[in-house]
Amino acid sequence: MTNDMKTAPIGVFDSGIGGLTVVREIISRLPRENIIYLGDTARVPYGTKSSRTVIAYSHHNARFLVSKGIKMLVVACNTSSAVSLPSLSRELEIPVIGVIGPGAKKAGEVTKSKRVGVIGTPSTIKSSAYKKALEAISPDIEVFSRACPLFVPLAEEGWTEGEISELIAKEYLAPFKGYDIDVLVLGCTHYPLLKPTIQKVMGGGITLVDSAEETAKEIERVLIERGLLNNGSGAPSRAYYLTDVSDTFVSVAGRFLGEKIENIEMVDITGTAL
Ligand code: DGL
Repeated sequence: MTNDMKTAPIGVFDSGIGGLTVVREIISRLPRENIIYLGDTARVPYGTKSSRTVIAYSHHNARFLVSKGIKMLVVACNTSSAVSLPSLSRELEIPVIGVIGPGAKKAGEVTKSKRVGVIGTPSTIKSSAYKKALEAISPDIEVFSRACPLFVPLAEEGWTEGEISELIAKEYLAPFKGYDIDVLVLGCTHYPLLKPTIQKVMGGGITLVDSAEETAKEIERVLIERGLLNNGSGAPSRAYYLTDVSDTFVSVAGRFLGEKIENIEMVDITGTAL
């Protein structure tokens, strides 16, 4: 493997800023890696759109990142992972990593009662991607799912704690109280920001699982397997591209990432001049 390939950046995309929860874990596990992030903020949310549209958007995102010379693509969006991983993997010559497999693996390891709740966008829940992945891990796992579409705008808006987010969480999560689950999968990369609120509503006895940490482990495993790990000593580069920039982005994104975002560039990925 040439050094150029090893030092090439990892490309990460999400519909918005939720994927930064995955970037945060990549940075903490693989601090030497260069990263290029694309948030398709002009077209967020993906979770309420048809699979056909989400697949088309995902390919636009992937092509933009590939044009930047990435060595691996991370689909840091559950909605896109649920419907577009097969076609992205077919089209691209680089490794493609999604977030659903790693999240399901973690939930399968953690559950003792084998009764697992999954929350996600309408599109992710409709795809049954988590249910299939969990049942493939262990056929005796029972899966209870619910779409929570309002969690995405709440997270994008920065309304992650307080009365409003709690009321909405109570409404969405009420059915899980009767299912006797011991694990709840946060099947959307936006949801980890609402973790304290979701935990408060569900109670301390329920383990919340998000896929960010497991996805970072999977990225490391694949990079090692392919001889692509960056072991150079230069300062890592981070670039953030968005298809639209809102006033709240910088402050909210900083919270997702856990550090201030300096270099944001607005891009057009559909071929039309801005
Ligand atoms: N963050 C995305 C996910 O993990 C979805 C948010 C959306 O665009 O609806 O599913």
